[in-house]
Amino acid sequence: MGEMFEHLKEHDDEFHMNTYARKDVLFVSGKGMRLYDDDGREYLDFMSGIGAVNLGHTHPAVVAAVQEQVAKLTHVSNVFHVEHRAELAGDLVTLAGDGFKVHFANSGTEACEAAIKLARKRSKERKGDDAYEIVTALRGFHGRTMGSLAATPQPAKQDPFAPMLPGFTYVPLNDIEALEAAVGPNTAAVMLEPIQGEGGVYPCTSEYLEAARALCDAHDAALVLDEVQTGFFRTGPAFAHQAYGVRPDLMPLAKAMANGLPIGALLAYEGFSEYFSPGDHGSTFAGGPVICAAGCATIHALACEGLGENAIEVGAYLRDALIDLGERTGAITEVRGAGLMVAAELSEPIAGDIAAAALTKGLVLNNVGENILRFLPPLVCGTTEIDTLCAVLYELFDGEE
Ligand SMILES: Cc1ncc(COP(=O)(O)O)c(C=O)c1O
Repeated sequence: MGEMFEHLKEHDDEFHMNTYARKDVLFVSGKGMRLYDDDGREYLDFMSGIGAVNLGHTHPAVVAAVQEQVAKLTHVSNVFHVEHRAELAGDLVTLAGDGFKVHFANSGTEACEAAIKLARKRSKERKGDDAYEIVTALRGFHGRTMGSLAATPQPAKQDPFAPMLPGFTYVPLNDIEALEAAVGPNTAAVMLEPIQGEGGVYPCTSEYLEAARALCDAHDAALVLDEVQTGFFRTGPAFAHQAYGVRPDLMPLAKAMANGLPIGALLAYEGFSEYFSPGDHGSTFAGGPVICAAGCATIHALACEGLGENAIEVGAYLRDALIDLGERTGAITEVRGAGLMVAAELSEPIAGDIAAAALTKGLVLNNVGENILRFLPPLVCGTTEIDTLCAVLYELFDGEE
């Protein structure tokens, strides 16, 4: 560890609240799938930051777009028009399909807050003041601000901050009967991730998403599909719901939209988008010209470089390689996911130890609890990087046995 690392670590500890358990690495630069620490050591990033850098680090088109706009105009109030915002909204609608409209936010949790507010407002106006209930899935994750935290039924995250916002009901994922029992005349929304991410990469079944769509239609409620993590070609198509053929009414987005710079958006379909009026929701920074320039450059590059196709191809290679690794070592009991959003369920509670040991061997891995390794590499990832990953994992699993 270099001198700069020691100095920064000391200051981090002295001045920051204890909200992150940070690892002893100082990343100073990145290119594509590679990160470099202050000693010049190279790492392969299998986390994409945290599912955000789908194009790989420091993509030249995004860097150029930000540099150009930041030198021109950074911020004016959202009551004025600025360059790039309408273009980015149009790009999002092109990816999502006609009929959607966009409200910009700064993060995933804010995009989910906007979805909760819009769903409640619409439902109360159409069905009465009691129609504010929102049904979400156990193990789901929608963010950490009080509204989206209420939608995130994980006791460790909710309990210290109780009481939660009233009106939330939680159901087990992929249990259609439980969903049918939970949705009724007072339901404003059903809110799901097409593939649960933070919970450990658990996909919705097609039947479940279709049932959710039908129940929302029957009760005039909003189907919210949170694509914060699954969006922007992570699983192959632009948005994961497109592979299911089930359209959401509301779709929160964030993470990869500006390749690692902070942005979020709520997309709302016709019949829903009309229920927000001036003053209902807003933000100082959301939809500013710099972030929108970055977003346009990101979406253009993701589409032009065929990264959705690469996610499907290399994702299949990754899943096969992990299944093979499981057969050879006995360390993996299940492989789940789609495209380059993949999890390996481990037979022993060693995921944290494996991620820590992998870091010392130049791999940035993410563990969900102690039993799951989650892989979210940039979509530029190739089979060579997967081979490197599996060689290191083989060595580590072998050592653990
Ligand atoms: C599905 C989903 N929704 C919402 C969020 C919250 O996003 P943010 O951390 O940008 O607030 C996340 C973050 O991981 C997520 O995966």
